[in-house]
Amino acid sequence: MPTPRPLAVITGASSGLGEVFARMLAQRGYNLLLTARRLDRLESLCRELESSHGVHAEPLRADLADESQIDGVARRIENEPALSLLVNNAGFGTLGFFHETDYSRQIDMVKVHVLATMRLTRAALPGMIGRRSGGIINVSSVAGFFRSAGNASYCSTKGWMNDFTEGLRLELDALGSPVAVQALCPGFTYTEFHDSMGVKRELVPNWLWMDAAFVVRESLDALASRKLFVVPGWQYKAAVLLAKLMPDWLRLKVELNSPHKRR
Ligand SMILES: NC(=O)c1ccc[n+]([C@@H]2O[C@H](COP(=O)([O-])OP(=O)(O)OC[C@H]3O[C@@H](n4cnc5c(N)ncnc54)[C@H](OP(=O)(O)O)[C@@H]3O)[C@@H](O)[C@H]2O)c1
Repeated sequence: MPTPRPLAVITGASSGLGEVFARMLAQRGYNLLLTARRLDRLESLCRELESSHGVHAEPLRADLADESQIDGVARRIENEPALSLLVNNAGFGTLGFFHETDYSRQIDMVKVHVLATMRLTRAALPGMIGRRSGGIINVSSVAGFFRSAGNASYCSTKGWMNDFTEGLRLELDALGSPVAVQALCPGFTYTEFHDSMGVKRELVPNWLWMDAAFVVRESLDALASRKLFVVPGWQYKAAVLLAKLMPDWLRLKVELNSPHKRR
């Protein structure tokens, strides 16, 4: 009997990095369960990938800022015997200093970045550990290693994703499990992310921008070696290294002058 195709579940697959993950994983022979709020986009992507790669691709509408819908996705995936890869990718940023922002958007961010990641990981991991195979990619950000004025919730929720992923890795290693967990930490990448926030791309120097396909390839290529933190691009690798070496007073000065500073 032929081995069934592995299944990848991707949140935020209606655009940007999530869509590129879907395309590259379909190319690699994965069946797909794709979630986001824009169902029309998911449906047409699924149709395209089914016809071009012969895989099964299922769209699932879910607003991950709604706890009952997070739960719906979790219940849908927790008993999937072929679940091989979970990509917790859905996310967004907001503009402005925390005390002036729309508080409900900040809560939504915690739900999408933190609660959904936690709940879906909790749903996926027991089966993967039992089968001794699989992986989870948490799409964090290089912002998870820094703080910046105008991005307090974004940086801290991504910092949580980094810490959570490292904690999971320690637990998997303690169990002797081969399951891989990865925090993917991109810097500025061409997607719809900054359009949704109303950020002008030209404010960020060209050399800081990366292509989404490059970022996703770096992530998938690092999965087999169980690399914990994947930071695509020499410029961001250098920035993360420098941040770790700097004393707090110097890091605070650099953070205050980051390209993200805005009011
Ligand atoms: N682009 C960058 O420069 C950059 C850098 C570092 C990290 N990242 C991270 O990369 C991830 C993907 O972002 P992207 O750059 O690909 O941006 P994007 O093109 O705007 O994609 C964001 C995805 O998240 C989904 N999403 C947002 N809010 C959601 C919600 N409430 N419920 C369900 N899905 C939701 C969107 O789908 P719907 O709108 O259809 O729901 C969309 O598919 C994010 O976690 C982001 O923080 C991006």
